[in-house]
Amino acid sequence: MGNLVLIGPMGAGKSTLARTLGGISGHRVRDMDLEIESAAAMSIGAIFERFGEAHFRAQEHALLEALLRDDGQIIASGGGVVLSARNREELKLRAFVVWLDASVDLLHSRLAGDATRPLLQGPALRSRLLELAAQRDPLYAQSADLRFPVNEEAPALQAARLAAQL
Ligand code: S3P
Repeated sequence: MGNLVLIGPMGAGKSTLARTLGGISGHRVRDMDLEIESAAAMSIGAIFERFGEAHFRAQEHALLEALLRDDGQIIASGGGVVLSARNREELKLRAFVVWLDASVDLLHSRLAGDATRPLLQGPALRSRLLELAAQRDPLYAQSADLRFPVNEEAPALQAARLAAQL
């Protein structure tokens, strides 16, 4: 089957959808943020704070490369995985990539009050989300084999809808 990689902004539901799809299909699920946290034995927030974003991105790149050496996995990436041209190249070569495309309104409603994402701390969440979308949507679009609009539907329904399209 190759690998299925879910990309898209923070709060789009990549981890939940990966788990739900994995439950339906039996494929192995890999959650990149969780794996980075468990390898470092600290939260993403603590990694950013102690070592900086560049260090996190290096870990993220190394993990993506390692994961894509295997096959048959459903991989939930972090929202910034497409920032790296090397990551985009790897994704093109070794995965079927699905972009979970969510409106800024939906992301805002899900992420208000979130304390776990270092790039979203501070005031003005909505304008931050708009800024990230303007920067990253073109990268998601160029990396994706399939654009999958997401809304408020329940994870099981969403997973069935995606499975039907795959
Ligand atoms: C990031 C997204 C996060 C996490 C880190 C950076 C980003 O993952 O990798 O906080 O740059 O968009 P989620 O998309 O799973 O929240």
